Amino acid sequence: MRIDFTVNGTAAQVAVDPTTPLLDVLRNELDLKGARYGCGLEQCGACMVLVDNEPVFACGREVGTIAGRHVATVESLAGHPLHQAFLDEQAGQCGYCLAGILISAKALLDRTPSPTRAEVVAALDKHLCRCGTQYRIIRAVERAAALLAHGEVR
Ligand code: FES
Ligand code: FES
Repeated sequence: MRIDFTVNGTAAQVAVDPTTPLLDVLRNELDLKGARYGCGLEQCGACMVLVDNEPVFACGREVGTIAGRHVATVESLAGHPLHQAFLDEQAGQCGYCLAGILISAKALLDRTPSPTRAEVVAALDKHLCRCGTQYRIIRAVERAAALLAHGEVR
């Protein structure tokens, strides 16, 4: 079945079984390796992408359900202040969780430019970080909010 949608602002067209997980299509058909496979069970958040600006577990979403929708992956965040903030806070160790976390952070900052600590924690609640850098990640999101507030808007 042919499925049309957009990814990071570019039209995409794939011919796959519509029950194929969106994550598999992104990684294997479209060569976008940013979103990662962790659990495959909507339990870790490593695969998070935006569908029409809402965070979605790409491992659990059938690609047939996104026909005509807009998908954004972590690749779309190149140059976003979140990157500098995560570097400044040294928020990544292995980095496996970060692609998904950056996506949820982007969605949060889009709807709540100056989030409270509680709002940051709630926005990242669906994500696991096995390296234990949770506090650095939270501080990085807060730092990104500050950078955006000072006009480093992308
Ligand atoms: S791989 Fe999708 S939530 Fe873990
Ligand atoms: S930095 Fe390794 S899982 Fe989060």
